Amino acid sequence: MTSKDNKLSWNSDSKVPNGGPAGGFTINTGINEIHNERPVSPFEEEKEIKVTDRDIGVLFPSLLFKSRVDDTEFIDSVKERIIAATKDEKAGTFSGEPGAPDPVGWYSFDDLHQKEGFEDVHNFLLREAAQVFQYYDYKVEQVYLTSMWANVGFKPYYAHMNHTHPNSLFSGVWHISCPNVGTQFCQTTTFSDPRPGARVIEPNVNKDFAAHNSGIVSPIVNNGSLFIFPSWLPHGVNANSYRDYNGIPRITIAFNAMMVGNIDTRTAPIRFS
Ligand SMILES: [Fe+2]
Repeated sequence: MTSKDNKLSWNSDSKVPNGGPAGGFTINTGINEIHNERPVSPFEEEKEIKVTDRDIGVLFPSLLFKSRVDDTEFIDSVKERIIAATKDEKAGTFSGEPGAPDPVGWYSFDDLHQKEGFEDVHNFLLREAAQVFQYYDYKVEQVYLTSMWANVGFKPYYAHMNHTHPNSLFSGVWHISCPNVGTQFCQTTTFSDPRPGARVIEPNVNKDFAAHNSGIVSPIVNNGSLFIFPSWLPHGVNANSYRDYNGIPRITIAFNAMMVGNIDTRTAPIRFS
């Protein structure tokens, strides 16, 4: 079976309802209202000038689609399969010194979506990715996963430098096993602002950093948390220098999703096939 044989037909198989945002996703920036507790300007107005229709437009948002698989049986089964794969020399590579007895991490090869025994994972992640394509209202013939791979961290200083995924539209990370689950030490996937100009001046904030005033976002994850995002959005895994794994490995499955179809507006025509 090749990845192309395994493409998800856009309208018939994806089981995504037509019309409206798929999967119940909503954009929530947390900045729908302005609350200045202390006046920014020192000047008192002599006559109050009434202002109406205040609104905040979110321009060019970087959307992170978050969901969580609640089926612990499925998650445990995938975890077992990945742990078994780490013992198969033909399935991936250990990070660090070759042959070291105590490796930091392990990475499968990126054709996991085509491997026997991972069909259910492929089909699930493809379905979720297809919903994201539909949310963007992209006109495509099919959606398919170009690659899928497992990442395993055995120790807290497992890390993955900030990066993007070239030649891809959407990427995803499914968190199968998280050390220090549900806490800030869960070693989540960390996202960073792709706009360098936005960080030229970075004032302190009075309360907490939030989506509209921070350059780094580390959403807390639980076992089963799935993130899907544009492939150009920089992300990575920070080392956890504060808490031990307590014997629980960090396991994720990452993937890239691409379209089949024509792009023929405003450019030289392109066909992705
Ligand atoms: Fe990545």
